[in-house]
Amino acid sequence: MEALRVVDLCKTYITNKRQNNVLKNVNFVIEQGEMAAVMGPSGSGKSTLLYSVSGMDRPTAGKVVLGGRVITELKEKELARVRLNEMGFIFQQMYMLKNLTVLDNILLPAYQSQNKERSRKEIDAYAAALMRRLGISEIAGNDVTEVSGGQLQRACICRSMMNRPQILFADEPTGALNRGSSEEVMKELNRLNEDGATIMLVTHDLKVAAKCSRILYIVDGNIKGELPLGKLSFSAGTGDGKEEREQEAAGIEKLLRERERRLNSWLIEMGW
Ligand SMILES: Nc1ncnc2c1ncn2[C@@H]1O[C@H](COP(=O)(O)OP(=O)(O)OP(=O)(O)O)[C@@H](O)[C@H]1O
Ligand SMILES: [Mg+2]
Repeated sequence: MEALRVVDLCKTYITNKRQNNVLKNVNFVIEQGEMAAVMGPSGSGKSTLLYSVSGMDRPTAGKVVLGGRVITELKEKELARVRLNEMGFIFQQMYMLKNLTVLDNILLPAYQSQNKERSRKEIDAYAAALMRRLGISEIAGNDVTEVSGGQLQRACICRSMMNRPQILFADEPTGALNRGSSEEVMKELNRLNEDGATIMLVTHDLKVAAKCSRILYIVDGNIKGELPLGKLSFSAGTGDGKEEREQEAAGIEKLLRERERRLNSWLIEMGW
């Protein structure tokens, strides 16, 4: 099943009366359950693509179909509702409200959603469960200025998941993080993906991209190539004994190194 179809997408910015064609007839499909990474040089249009596809910004031409619905034809109000209820967003510049606690920030999109099926009590319980799962329960009451970058990014993931989106968009979700926090965040994104969420993320990080199922490489507003890496399967930690679990973890590490090598040589071919 298709999660997302992008047809002849164009985006032109006009600055100082000069026309800048940033996206030039971009076409691709993301299947449900995929985890796609967009890579490419700085200024190639990756963020613009993510914003245009997710309805954060209007494309100049072309069509975006989300779960069978043409969202580029929606009026602003309807589009806002689709964004709130059906999409999740994670950005590098984290748009958390500074005068609210981490928990209140996480709850906000769910309270704003007009989905009447859930009571406040259910919403609160869902937020608590998500925070527990991402290991940030203890910072629920902190102001967003009183937490680490990795914690804040995990809070952003919680927030983006509150309305159980069909698809999650992330622009360099690990860009501001150190290696350890970055791995934590990727572990969560991989887990959400295993649970069925479709993910489209932008990254400069080879290790992050190697954990995705497919890479789209964009150069100068066009998709220059695609690399299907296939789904990464996580069976580590499911074994009975300690030894067995260690073996599984070592197996996954080996698999990851192989994927990174494959991706690296492909990126060199693409002119990265
Ligand atoms: N709001 C805007 N108004 C005018 N021009 C813009 C706007 N946003 C982006 N651009 C231009 O579009 C081009 C692509 O920018 P974009 O942010 O999509 O690149 P990117 O691939 O995400 O780069 P990076 O890897 O550095 O994040 C750039 O030339 C940029 O100057
Ligand atoms: Mg960008």
